[in-house]
Amino acid sequence: MLRNIISERQEELPVSTIGKFLKIAAESKDIISLGPGEPDFDSPPHIIEAAKKHLDERYTHYSPPGGRYGFKEAIIKKLKKENGISVGHENIIVTTGSTEAILLALMCTVDPGEGVLIPDPGFLAYKPSVEILNGMPLCVPLYEKNNFEIDVEKMEKVIIPEKTRALIMCTPSNPTGTVFSKKALEEIADFAREHDLLVISDEAYEKLVYDDARHISIGSLNGMENYVMTLHSFSKTYAMAGFRVGYAAGPEEIVKAMTKLHIFTTLCAPTISQVTAMDALKGDQKCVETMRREYDRRRRMIVKRLNEIPGFSCTTPKGAFYAFPNVKSFGMKSLAFSEWILKNAKVAVLPGTEFGKFGEGYIRLSYATAYDLIEKALDRIENAVKKLKK
Ligand SMILES: Cc1ncc(COP(=O)(O)O)c(C=O)c1O
Repeated sequence: MLRNIISERQEELPVSTIGKFLKIAAESKDIISLGPGEPDFDSPPHIIEAAKKHLDERYTHYSPPGGRYGFKEAIIKKLKKENGISVGHENIIVTTGSTEAILLALMCTVDPGEGVLIPDPGFLAYKPSVEILNGMPLCVPLYEKNNFEIDVEKMEKVIIPEKTRALIMCTPSNPTGTVFSKKALEEIADFAREHDLLVISDEAYEKLVYDDARHISIGSLNGMENYVMTLHSFSKTYAMAGFRVGYAAGPEEIVKAMTKLHIFTTLCAPTISQVTAMDALKGDQKCVETMRREYDRRRRMIVKRLNEIPGFSCTTPKGAFYAFPNVKSFGMKSLAFSEWILKNAKVAVLPGTEFGKFGEGYIRLSYATAYDLIEKALDRIENAVKKLKK
């Protein structure tokens, strides 16, 4: 048996509650899981057909590390038309999901000991990704009273000048569902330029926006082309999570460095996924709207129902597929409350602290789950918490 084989860096990474909860939920048939962060929809039929066809065509070989030429062409057109970002082939790298792009962008820009501003609560991969690189995560607290938007004043308080290299942000946001306003993005853009920061803009949920909300890419704002690495994914928009494909667009020098590293990590994103994702981009977009509408229907129901349960207070998320209610009135820590719900209501939800310490007092419920299951889960939660509120 090897002794002391696991690196200290690895040992220090947090053990995620998500894994534990989802395992319990998967193993017990009577638990309804509102935990998952991936669409409950299968990939749309025409995308599955395209993948089958491409397999018959024997797209079973490696691709150029930066991505296939035709796919990048399609991405360039999409970025221009839908995100207002004008780039060339040299500004794009196709990655194995946007998760890989997050790590590559950080690896190429952050040296050990350097700081990275990350939203708290924020997507759970951000902090560990900085820590893996022995960088310094600088958590920027997000507050409900501020609609969980990044507040530049808060960033001023936590930034270590000269030692901070990047800011990761996510709009629409996981876990809060916030869609950043143009004003907030403009303030962040000014801050990034002033402090010479790379903005890593995670836009995995760009197509999942509701009501009057509009997704704006910070990379499309004036003067930001040299400061932003925009990350996109096929996992949510086209329900293609298992295909593992995404892309990053940004300054040529950084994309070049990311491509160099990519050769030593995954070499290239799966070829079959690239050709299939190209078809998804070029094909009929009705499927995207159909899924968005269904998420919207669930969103309206889940928020209404949560607010009817005494003790819950839920702001209306304008994007992504998560509700992030305030549960402070139950007087329990988020983790204890989530465990209590799992045990007493047989519903798996995630504690807000899974997304950072400022997630304390909140839980995350995913509505990437069938409408009737969400209703049933809420019935169970409502009945269970009656015991607490008596
Ligand atoms: C905010 C955010 N970014 C990135 C990802 C990862 O996406 P991908 O499947 O493209 O790696 C997720 C997945 O849940 C996410 O929520």
